[in-house]
Amino acid sequence: MTDHILIQRPETAPHVQVIRFNRPEKKNAITRVMYQTMTDALQAANEDPDIRVTAFLGTEGCFSAGNDMGDFLAFAMGGSMGREVLDFLGALATAKKPIVSGVDGLAIGIGTTIHMHCDLTVASDRSLFKTPFVDLALVPEAASSLLAPRLMGHQRAFALLALGEGLSAADAKDAGLIWKVTTPDALEAETLSLATRLAAKPPEALRIARNLIRGSTADVLARIDEEATLFAAQLKSAEARAAFEAFMKR
Ligand code: COA
Repeated sequence: MTDHILIQRPETAPHVQVIRFNRPEKKNAITRVMYQTMTDALQAANEDPDIRVTAFLGTEGCFSAGNDMGDFLAFAMGGSMGREVLDFLGALATAKKPIVSGVDGLAIGIGTTIHMHCDLTVASDRSLFKTPFVDLALVPEAASSLLAPRLMGHQRAFALLALGEGLSAADAKDAGLIWKVTTPDALEAETLSLATRLAAKPPEALRIARNLIRGSTADVLARIDEEATLFAAQLKSAEARAAFEAFMKR
């Protein structure tokens, strides 16, 4: 457990579990223990009939700056990557209940690709979605190399994932990455209201409808594994290590 991830059950949102990034001093960068806490929460939601929807939220002005660069550097220097990231991606891709997300501000790396697994995402109009994988000498993760072209077509996916071009909230909506744009003040209420609306639906019908809409997860899980092997190899490269060291030394 870590208080860098808060697991909340808002009174105003019955049957909704909130997974909240809560490390604002590090722009909600995600460490191994934070991944583990999120995996546990997603698995708990699968089993708990009182939880019908999970909502990801961040803090004011920041959803997440992605994977913790210190963890990347530790792995690049020969440390263990552990199972936490892969376990989280597996739990995310196979979650049995709807997932919504609310983004206010920065959404970098997995802070962007996480929404490709969500069912509905709301973002404030000051949000920025960006995946600087290649600039860090890394490759796309979280099955984003499969899901992004499906969502937005090859060229936009290439601009996002390979060129490292940022998407504004309006661009992200246009690209089909998110569903709705709102003001920063309304972001949390809008996200929780959507989650609550979903949670009020007949659960079995919602479950069946969601499974039909999403289709099989087999190709998604296979791509997560394929990307992870390539990602781990790149993490060990001299060019990646140089990029992490440059960030850590700023
Ligand atoms: N991992 C670890 N720490 C991070 C981090 C990350 N991914 N992103 C930000 N931080 C830390 C910074 O090191 C800084 O810590 P410090 O105050 O102890 O020095 C703190 O969060 C604030 O970040 P800062 O860079 O000062 O804020 P900013 O508003 O100028 O820039 C970002 C914000 C997100 C644009 C910038 O921090 C950044 O580029 N982060 C890396 C994002 C990234 O590449 N993620 C991996 C994608 S695969």
